[in-house]
Amino acid sequence: MCGIVGYVGKKPVVETVLEALGRLEYRGYDSAGLAVLNARGLAVRKRPGKLSVLADAVKREPIRSGHLGIGHTRWATHGEPSEINAHPHTDCSGSLAVVHNGIVENYAELKTRLLAKGHRFRSKTDTEVIAHLVEEHAKRLPLDRAFRQALKELRGSYAVCLVSAKEPHRLFGARNSSPLIIGVGKGEAFVASDVPAILDHTRRIIYLNDREAVELSAAGPKLFTLEGRPIRRSPTTVAWTVSAARKEGFPHFMLKEIHEQPSAIEQTLANRLDPARGRLVFDRRTKRFLDTLDATEKLVIIACGTAYHAGLVGEYMLEEVARLPVDVDLASEFRYRGPQLDRRTTVLAITQSGETADTLAGIQMAKAHGARTMAICNVMGSSIAREVDAVLYTHAGPEIAVASTKAYTSQVTALALLTLYLAKHFRRIPLAQWRRLLDGLEALPRLMRQALTSEAAAKATAAKYAGARNFYYLGRRYNFPSALEGALKLKEICPVIHAEGYAAGEMKHGPISLIRKGWPVVFVAPQSPVYEKVVSNIEEVRARHGSCIVIASEGDAHITRYADSLITIPKTDEFFSPILAAAPLQLFAYYVADANGADIDQPPNLAKSVTVE
Ligand code: G6P
Repeated sequence: MCGIVGYVGKKPVVETVLEALGRLEYRGYDSAGLAVLNARGLAVRKRPGKLSVLADAVKREPIRSGHLGIGHTRWATHGEPSEINAHPHTDCSGSLAVVHNGIVENYAELKTRLLAKGHRFRSKTDTEVIAHLVEEHAKRLPLDRAFRQALKELRGSYAVCLVSAKEPHRLFGARNSSPLIIGVGKGEAFVASDVPAILDHTRRIIYLNDREAVELSAAGPKLFTLEGRPIRRSPTTVAWTVSAARKEGFPHFMLKEIHEQPSAIEQTLANRLDPARGRLVFDRRTKRFLDTLDATEKLVIIACGTAYHAGLVGEYMLEEVARLPVDVDLASEFRYRGPQLDRRTTVLAITQSGETADTLAGIQMAKAHGARTMAICNVMGSSIAREVDAVLYTHAGPEIAVASTKAYTSQVTALALLTLYLAKHFRRIPLAQWRRLLDGLEALPRLMRQALTSEAAAKATAAKYAGARNFYYLGRRYNFPSALEGALKLKEICPVIHAEGYAAGEMKHGPISLIRKGWPVVFVAPQSPVYEKVVSNIEEVRARHGSCIVIASEGDAHITRYADSLITIPKTDEFFSPILAAAPLQLFAYYVADANGADIDQPPNLAKSVTVE
């Protein structure tokens, strides 16, 4: 994620760009920058921190006004949040500037080529290669063609915007797998990552498609394919309010983030999965750390809330497939329990924000005892990410809703990556199983997209049970944590409901005493070695006239006779099933809460990031 903006027109450029960036800050807020073309050439300002820090800097050191500018609010993926890594990035001459959202997967290769040609790089970002690549092509091509030529060489995702002092009246933009829209005004034009950024100026929008480029001047936009063929497309008028548009038409951030999961998972896998060569790739520091993990006698995972549930799934994965001894602990317990730690222990923190107080304290304690530390984290440069020896970033983009959804499935995806890497590296997995699981990993974004088609079934089931005030969630093995997470989702966002997750085998040691007619029990029962056992547990609930809501694998005809309500997920290896099962569990919780009129994105008494004990 990141937010980008471009403007051509007569309004004060700096103010217009800053204001539009303000509407995009939810897409990233670790640094911000802008570039303006004025009579003196290109002026660039950038600062780490929130947009307000940039706005203050511009107030202190004003930019002479111009007629054309670009801006960026960053969510770091390559290179920590800092002034040098903030966008815009310039070429060697300093007269061309680029802002970018996405990941250039082949940036290392391009950078080596450009360094050999004498280009000088300043930042650690993947984005800077775009500026130098365009500069290189512009030695022999006009700027518009140099821009398109450079784009053709990029692998990965981009929404990009470029200005150059050599073309003072045009701004260039393009997209591939990252959003970019065009706003058409009177004598002015915009590009932006999404519609709300520019709704104050115009509602006439042109949606750019993948591998299309735009040239923007005050006369309006001209669209092209990357091959340079002109495209005719008229603007459509949007009727959104600013707040509806920020959620891209979804009524809540939670629902938007649920639907972002296929691309969040894709981002977690990006650059790390190399199926052609049958291998997994990590940056040098992480690889060095992982390659010496055999010296570890015990891996302790610490986390809070949803991240703790991801850790529990990780325990099944790492123990069973990578055959590593694993303990999972709630960070708030771990830090006060007096755990046995030394340099033969590795402590892995799982955290979306990287700021959760208990998790941070747990890591600091582990370090003080000489343990090695690592994190699976979403927010780059966060406190925990800075504290540990190695970080595996999930790159899921900012999560706004209090109830974690895409952060969870990307954490479990990162754990799957970790497991498969270690299993292969330490030769603990038969080749056929490794290949099968690697294929499964590659298919995950697609399968997640498919799992989200369970929305209609989840919604209909939610309507049926929205009046219930108590729910049980049951599952076994890899889907025991799914049961805990499903119950947590519901009780987090629907304060009138009590929900409890349990290991299905434990039901008869307590919870079963409460089951009576109509009591809803959600079973997570995809195909697995314990499928039959879960079916027996379903029978036990049915015998007491409870209502069984079953999440099962597609094509499971057998289960239909046991389920009062059935929601299916795509067939996959049990190893990946918690990721796919999360989709209907989240959707079911969402629609039950919605039917109860709950404040879904900001439930009472809860916070997104708990930075106090
Ligand atoms: C809070 C949030 C949860 C989150 C937990 C841990 O309780 O509401 O959604 O799972 O903190 O947060 P972290 O940022 O460490 O993953």
